[in-house]
Amino acid sequence: MELTLIKTGLNDIDSQHEQLIGCINDLAKSAGTENAKEAVKIALMRLSYYAVSHLAYEEQGMTFFGYPRAAEHIEQHQFFVHKLETITEKIKQGLNTPATDLLIFMREWLLTHIGKEDVLYAEFLVSCNAAPNYKPPV
Ligand SMILES: [Fe+2]
Ligand SMILES: [Fe+2]
Repeated sequence: MELTLIKTGLNDIDSQHEQLIGCINDLAKSAGTENAKEAVKIALMRLSYYAVSHLAYEEQGMTFFGYPRAAEHIEQHQFFVHKLETITEKIKQGLNTPATDLLIFMREWLLTHIGKEDVLYAEFLVSCNAAPNYKPPV
């Protein structure tokens, strides 16, 4: 089952999230196949890149515009990065980390972080006129 993005209405953030969704959907296609182990490694590399660039992008905006929920939001980002590091470490040690573990985690992240925290952040940016390209999600 392909995941669809919960949009924030901000083009820059939504297109970065699209990269994440693409990564998860690619992984889902490979889960359970003989390529699953390799697919997890590739997904982790892409997600690590995503974590560094996208999460930093959001956090810079929070600092710049004085987002009042920044501490809670950044804490969730740190949890995300920690979880990826944990899975990466398990794979390096040769421990069995099925693609489904990563998929479950990413689906949860999509619903609980992107669908809630990122949407709240987007609303804040709109409320302080920091998002001139905002388009209400359809
Ligand atoms: Fe976020
Ligand atoms: Fe995000």
